[in-house]
Amino acid sequence: MARILLTGATGLLGGAVLHETLDRDDGTSWICLVRCANADQGRQRVAARLARFTDPFTAQRLARKVEIVPGDFTQADHDNDPRLDGVTHILHLAADTSYFGGERLFRTNRDGTLALARRAARMRNLQRFLHIGTAMSCGAEAGPVVAESRPDPEARHLVPYTASKAATEEALAAEFPDLPLVVARPSIVVGHSTLGAGPSSSILWLVRAADRLRLLPCAPESCCDIVPADWAAGALLTLLRKHDLAHDLYHVSAGLPSVTRWSALNRAFEAAEPSDGVRALSCFDLSDRAALRDRFRAVFGLDSPLKQTMLRATRAYYAFCALDMTFANDRLLAEGVAPAPALSDYLATCLANSAPIIDQFADDLEMFVPPPAPGPAALPQAVVA
Ligand SMILES: NC(=O)c1ccc[n+]([C@@H]2O[C@H](COP(=O)([O-])OP(=O)(O)OC[C@H]3O[C@@H](n4cnc5c(N)ncnc54)[C@H](OP(=O)(O)O)[C@@H]3O)[C@@H](O)[C@H]2O)c1
Repeated sequence: MARILLTGATGLLGGAVLHETLDRDDGTSWICLVRCANADQGRQRVAARLARFTDPFTAQRLARKVEIVPGDFTQADHDNDPRLDGVTHILHLAADTSYFGGERLFRTNRDGTLALARRAARMRNLQRFLHIGTAMSCGAEAGPVVAESRPDPEARHLVPYTASKAATEEALAAEFPDLPLVVARPSIVVGHSTLGAGPSSSILWLVRAADRLRLLPCAPESCCDIVPADWAAGALLTLLRKHDLAHDLYHVSAGLPSVTRWSALNRAFEAAEPSDGVRALSCFDLSDRAALRDRFRAVFGLDSPLKQTMLRATRAYYAFCALDMTFANDRLLAEGVAPAPALSDYLATCLANSAPIIDQFADDLEMFVPPPAPGPAALPQAVVA
């Protein structure tokens, strides 16, 4: 019987995984390592995440099916809870996903994952440690079609977050050669193919903002590698449970078969929310900071710290869009995972239950607040665009 330890159950992909699997009743037991004061509070946190995918009653029922181990994965090597000893599989999703977290990102993502790996080394029945990286750990120069290979330690990164994820993979491989390690690297997770924006509007706000701005940092035929949360969860479950995998590293991505082009998204927006029938997109050079700021001010205004942070976040995401990257997923498809639906195919579903763009961004705000400056009086500062 599989006994799976899940980190990150209260996050987007953790919720999607539990929602996809808990009703299967296949004898698998799930243990969620959750930051909480006690198991009851942890279960309520898991239920709250599941309630984004289903009704509150079902969310409570599903949450009762998991065991809760209160804890922080960065301290897992000191966790002697005997329930962890019999774990057969680990799905390690938890991470600090903030873009600008600085050194803290390395402490949590790299050093924390090494602490979890030290605990995993004491699990005698462990068959798989599925570590979730990010496709962008390849760095900024690996395109246009990125192969599934180990990160280049010298690669240039656009933000510390992806550098910390690349460093985590490198450290795991170097320090734990005997761990049954498989790395899965999702590309960009946006919405849910049938529940739309309900489970999460993370990054969806950016796609919608680009449409409203009618301004791209790349040609309209450029690609963005986007997958829905439910498909990503299904792919991760395959990589977690399939007995024999051909490789130890996979992209969980749209790849060439399902890649989304901005031009196709533009048509999908026009079909879902008709405007003048043209919806003309223009391109700008990302180094022209005034062009983006002026257009942003005209469309959304810049009259609050929230909007100023949203401009900064838009600029950060546009830097990734400008790379025009697709992440090869031949390995994943060869394991029997069906290709992902393209965002242009489920965009209308996402728009149907979307809140206003600025409210959707507010949900992602934590990712873009820089860490407080050191010192007792330091407070998070309003971000100036
Ligand atoms: N979403 C994407 O587009 C995307 C793309 C590529 C890769 N990924 C990777 O996929 C994974 C999951 O992403 P996500 O979008 O689901 O992230 P998320 O929504 O930001 O959730 C992060 C999860 O990690 C947990 N966590 C953070 N620090 C922790 C700690 N010290 N101890 C225990 N739990 C901790 C959080 O718990 P709390 O609730 O307690 O904070 C939360 O459950 C991450 O590794 C991310 O790098 C995501």
